[in-house]
Amino acid sequence: MQIEIERIAFGGAGIAKKDGKVFFVRGGLPKDVLEINIIKDKGNYAEAVIAEIIKPSPDRIETPCPVFDLCGGCQLQNLNYPAQLREKEYILKETLGRLGGLYDVAIEPIVPSPKEFGFRNKVTLSTWFYKGKWHVGYNQKGSNRKVAIDSCPISTDIVDKTIKRISEVLTSLGDPYYPLEKIHISSNGFKSQITLVPRHSRRGDLLKTLLKHLRRHQETENVSINGSGETGFEFSILGNKFLTTPSIFTQVNSEINELMIKTVLDWAELTQEQTVLDLYSGIGNFSIPLARGASEVLAVEISNNSVKLARKSAQANSVNNLVFQNAASEHAIEVLNKDEEKFDLIVLDPPREGAKEIIEGLVELSPTKVIYVSCDPATLARDLKKFSELGYKVVKVRPFDMFPQTFHIESIALLCK
Ligand SMILES: C[S@@+](CC[C@H](N)C(=O)[O-])C[C@H]1O[C@@H](n2cnc3c(N)ncnc32)[C@H](O)[C@@H]1O
Repeated sequence: MQIEIERIAFGGAGIAKKDGKVFFVRGGLPKDVLEINIIKDKGNYAEAVIAEIIKPSPDRIETPCPVFDLCGGCQLQNLNYPAQLREKEYILKETLGRLGGLYDVAIEPIVPSPKEFGFRNKVTLSTWFYKGKWHVGYNQKGSNRKVAIDSCPISTDIVDKTIKRISEVLTSLGDPYYPLEKIHISSNGFKSQITLVPRHSRRGDLLKTLLKHLRRHQETENVSINGSGETGFEFSILGNKFLTTPSIFTQVNSEINELMIKTVLDWAELTQEQTVLDLYSGIGNFSIPLARGASEVLAVEISNNSVKLARKSAQANSVNNLVFQNAASEHAIEVLNKDEEKFDLIVLDPPREGAKEIIEGLVELSPTKVIYVSCDPATLARDLKKFSELGYKVVKVRPFDMFPQTFHIESIALLCK
């Protein structure tokens, strides 16, 4: 069957419509004319793959990564960067309208990543033993099967060098008995840090020989084993020091992260008398910069390890008006409402699932402003709609391209009472 792709869907597939049916075509790009094979027919829509490119999209380009067609990490490397940005802007606008009824909200142009490649300061590699050799890699597109890699062009130079070296070391080892599940690599911009994750937490000791093989190298500062005292490291953002470890959540694109923090601070317009609640605070990425401009900040985070590091970072920055609470946001909000606490500003940066369960409780805390940082347009749309129904106006939304070459879209929304 022949179709012409109209747009990109969230998830990265090309969208085409024909005879009242919608087709999601893996690898299809806007204005591609394609012969397609349907792989799943669901009635009013179908999933398909490209059988032949009859006429390529004017935005179609060669990809630098030799495993792009297989690897699940990137979906859009074959689309030129301006077209990636155009499509992401459209997806956000369309989703906020369709799922949030937010047709009139000011959606700003997407903030491009200063680096189109070489931006990722953190990766997690799967590891497996096959045909007498160790391999490192990622999941394949749309599958749990793996694709082996020895380099990843979206990683920063240091992370990429570390991937190359780990791949060389591991593929030279014939020993299948290491209980190795995966490897986290992180970089502070100067050196890389490696964490080996054992298949069973109690078998970490069996990775000690492997750790020695990987340790000695100029670009790597630490190699540690998860569960046997993962080594932390320091990095800085906008003059603030942060402590973390490779297995803990941190923002992967440092330059975009700086621009996001600046946006949160600009939109917060804090005065030294104001109080802030920072929900889903991680290692204090937003909490520490916010505390510098506020009277008091309460930060809430569910990961005990993140909270321990965040407290140390606050100390290292001599920030004393910031309390990190190790709790689930939903629980913390319940207690705060019981105690009749109020906040001037609430910042929230939930995982992909969004923050549906906490919105009513959050509104009870009566913030004048809410700043919502999101990595999923659909849950953002749903949650902004709920805020609107509860009396908050969505003033503006600014998308950021945190993850070039992929379908992911990060956004910050400002809401006022
Ligand atoms: C998208 S990250 C944001 C972290 C941080 N704001 C940052 O910019 O680095 C989401 C964070 O929410 C935390 N989290 C997940 N579920 C949570 C919950 N129910 N309550 C509080 N924190 C939660 C995760 O551990 C993670 O650190």
